[in-house]
Amino acid sequence: MDSGEVRRRIASSPLARVAALPSRVGAVSRHNAAVASQSARWLVSRREHTNYTYDLTPLNLEHLAWWAASVAAAPVQECRSWIAEILKDRALQEYAYRISVSTGRRGLTDEKVRIARRAGWYAVVRALQPEHVVETGTDKGLGSLVIAAALLRNDKGHLTTMDINPDSGFLISGKYADVTRIERGDSVALISQLAEPVDLFIHDSDHSAAHEAAEFRAVASHLAASALVLSDNSHITGELPAWAESTGRTFTFFREVPEDHWYPGAGIGAAWYPRG
Ligand SMILES: C[S@@+](CC[C@H](N)C(=O)[O-])C[C@H]1O[C@@H](n2cnc3c(N)ncnc32)[C@H](O)[C@@H]1O
Repeated sequence: MDSGEVRRRIASSPLARVAALPSRVGAVSRHNAAVASQSARWLVSRREHTNYTYDLTPLNLEHLAWWAASVAAAPVQECRSWIAEILKDRALQEYAYRISVSTGRRGLTDEKVRIARRAGWYAVVRALQPEHVVETGTDKGLGSLVIAAALLRNDKGHLTTMDINPDSGFLISGKYADVTRIERGDSVALISQLAEPVDLFIHDSDHSAAHEAAEFRAVASHLAASALVLSDNSHITGELPAWAESTGRTFTFFREVPEDHWYPGAGIGAAWYPRG
């Protein structure tokens, strides 16, 4: 029996997993050691305890540009340049840094702004030129800041952002506040009081499936015909694809790949009526 035949026999026998154990242990150990080392670095160098921020890998940013191009029906070259525009926005970086080091929550806030998937929100706002964007879940205001920056570059449109936490939104002031209305309370109740049509809706509040679904039900009658609906929870629940299917919309999903961070990343679900 030649060595090839011996390998084939072992591979088809119960001994196969034992024979492969050293390489299996090696692969999983290398992976876990890399995550443990990222985790240790993060614990000593960063401050956040929730809503983690990080950069995305260059390849993942390229995927984000293609995702934005698809959901906004825009040329991918433009989506790439909008993503670069927000990532290189020094004025926004310096503005957010100044607030982050002076806020009452500075002990739990990272100083450097890392917007990750929100660069995709930015590209979509630049592409669609919406009049009215609604974001549920403001938190510090990082997503709101990115959306407001896009609206300011568009020179049109405004943002309504909602959060149940009265201390939310501390990143929004100055020119960013000029295009942003912060509303405090439960998002489902606030959505039902919206007076203007919504061109872009972003769910990013209470991430329970029931609350996410309640937001989609509440916003449905407020959506413009061409509205795009995004969910920051589509890596956890199937609520947006289920709602998309039940309303005749299409659905797609972008998954983050964080660079040098233990967190495995979130994602963006998108639902819209295909544009003819
Ligand atoms: C993941 S954070 C939002 C992150 C933010 N959009 C960003 O881009 O960084 C979720 C926020 O939802 C808020 N929230 C939780 N339940 C809510 C509710 N029922 N209505 C409105 N906001 C809620 C929390 O207070 C928290 O600030």
